[in-house]
Amino acid sequence: MPSSAHAYQAMLKLTEDTGKGPIYDLGSGWGTLVIRMAIKFPKRQVVGYELSLLPYLVSLSVKRLMKLENLNLYRKDFMKADLSAASVLVCYLYPGAMSELDHLIEERTQQTTPPSSVNRHDLKHQRCKPDFVISNNFALPSRVPESLIRLDDIYRSPVYRYDLSLPVKHTD
Ligand SMILES: C[S@@+](CC[C@H](N)C(=O)[O-])C[C@H]1O[C@@H](n2cnc3c(N)ncnc32)[C@H](O)[C@@H]1O
Repeated sequence: MPSSAHAYQAMLKLTEDTGKGPIYDLGSGWGTLVIRMAIKFPKRQVVGYELSLLPYLVSLSVKRLMKLENLNLYRKDFMKADLSAASVLVCYLYPGAMSELDHLIEERTQQTTPPSSVNRHDLKHQRCKPDFVISNNFALPSRVPESLIRLDDIYRSPVYRYDLSLPVKHTD
């Protein structure tokens, strides 16, 4: 299910003051959000990872039709992708995936193992060092958001932004 218009507008807004670094959509679906990100931020690199074939192909066609040179789309599991260049992670996933993402970020912030003693695959994840995570509807379970927009829908759905440059304030 793609982000609603209210949700992608909130995510675009929350991305505005996040610097100039690459934006990664983890699970880019039909391209609803990632294409708008690429249009709104033409000077930033925008990357989308999507597992499902049909949504991926549709988003790729739109990217090509619109000649969005700053957008790269991959049919790949983002958990196995190299996220090391990402400055902003945006997502609309589900609670289990948010826990996995939380662990991924936690591991890299607490990483003490010297790079020489870990394999290549692990190294990619250790270098996953985003400045921000922006998530539609689902929270990172162990972190406190620095910004939150409540959507004007019947559920008052939340869109969270986490600034990972701030000291960690774990939830209880
Ligand atoms: C709710 S949709 C959100 C799509 C888009 N980000 C948006 O906001 O409109 C979530 C998408 O994530 C994809 N997805 C879930 N887990 C994934 C994974 N590990 N790697 C790549 N894509 C994944 C699903 O196939 C689905 O298309």
